[in-house]
Amino acid sequence: MSEMDALNPNNAGKNEDDIIDTSKKLRVGIIGTGWIAGSHIIEYKKMPDVEIIAGADLIPGKAEAFFKANGIEGARCYPSHKELLDNEDLDAVSVCTYNAQHAPCAIYALEKGVNVLLEKPMCVTIEEAAEIVKAEKASGKVLSIGFQPRFDANMKLIKQICESGTLGKIYYIQTGGGRRRGIPTPFGTTFIEKETGGIGALGDIGCYSLDMVLNAIGYPKPLTVSGYKSSFFGNSPKYFTSEGKPAHYAKLFGVDDFAAAFVRLEGDIILDFRIAWAMNLDTPGDTIIMGTNGSLRIPSTECWNGSVGGPMKLYTDIEGLGVETEIPIIDETWQKGLFYQKIRSFLDAVKNGGSAPVPSSQIIYNQAIIDGIAKSALAGKEIDVEIPCLE
Ligand SMILES: NC(=O)c1ccc[n+]([C@@H]2O[C@H](COP(=O)([O-])OP(=O)(O)OC[C@H]3O[C@@H](n4cnc5c(N)ncnc54)[C@H](O)[C@@H]3O)[C@@H](O)[C@H]2O)c1
Repeated sequence: MSEMDALNPNNAGKNEDDIIDTSKKLRVGIIGTGWIAGSHIIEYKKMPDVEIIAGADLIPGKAEAFFKANGIEGARCYPSHKELLDNEDLDAVSVCTYNAQHAPCAIYALEKGVNVLLEKPMCVTIEEAAEIVKAEKASGKVLSIGFQPRFDANMKLIKQICESGTLGKIYYIQTGGGRRRGIPTPFGTTFIEKETGGIGALGDIGCYSLDMVLNAIGYPKPLTVSGYKSSFFGNSPKYFTSEGKPAHYAKLFGVDDFAAAFVRLEGDIILDFRIAWAMNLDTPGDTIIMGTNGSLRIPSTECWNGSVGGPMKLYTDIEGLGVETEIPIIDETWQKGLFYQKIRSFLDAVKNGGSAPVPSSQIIYNQAIIDGIAKSALAGKEIDVEIPCLE
């Protein structure tokens, strides 16, 4: 429910589902029926204005089993995104494939005139991101990228603090985080193989920590990147998982498990970034946002997936006195979940002709930094950030 809807006296006592206009049902498809598709379908099932029409997966029988497990009868199943989009008349799709298939699926859907909710990270390279934006512009459809932490009240507060001017001019940001042992292989190896994941920790959790701070400060354009990446843990036959079991996937590991960068942003802002799926350390540091009038410390979490690890601290100066204010974590467990809000806000934009809740015009900069880190690491020197669709 929007804030305006909630304030409308006619809506008093009603919950959101009573207010959703169900006169037209949105015809939805799911591309890629793996792990995260499960979180999408749970939320779609809660929406009274959604009909789940069809799904696709490259693995034979996977889409059928997925719909059966989720109690959806009559959904048609296809062997890839192409057959699905060629044969169905859909309003929207969730693209829930592994990273390397984000671009082909999103582009094909947009070309077919279908609105797209694309899982994070946007894709693998900046060239792919530019092609996605080109298809989005040509289609006039809604493309929203799946950054659900955007809907978290703590994340909104970080943005409010930055925008309020309390920090003064923001000139330096440190962000990132990671896990001591946490190379993700939830149900297979699609995150860690080059052909499927494309990028490792850098894209998987790095994109969240970049979004947290860049969104807070209005997504300034990245100008240069000096990046580093490595894969000492994933490539080691001696890597043990967090459960203490030998991992046995060193030969398959084809992405980064650690990345770091020094990024210059428009507006004379420095971004110092580091992210790890595995390291011999508890955390590579909290997120800090430093300004001329104050600074904000945002504690890192143990696994870094886009949340706040503890009460934040605001450091200000009052008449020469250093003051520290603790900002308690906002507990939102009473509210509908972040995934619900990410999907609902996308569907509302589709229905009302609104703009994407998490637009590509911002996330293209997120992808440009990720891509810049990969390219700079390969070149072994600082590089200028080039964004093909903006050149
Ligand atoms: N937002 C979040 O909280 C969150 C959490 C986990 C994963 N993700 C993202 O979701 C994506 C998928 O992750 P996952 O863990 O579900 O992976 P997964 O490997 O479990 O599932 C991906 C599925 O997509 C299928 N697929 C690939 N290309 C396809 C195509 N062209 N047509 C049809 N099916 C295709 C694969 O066969 C596989 O079954 C990743 O990009 C990941 O970063 C997001």
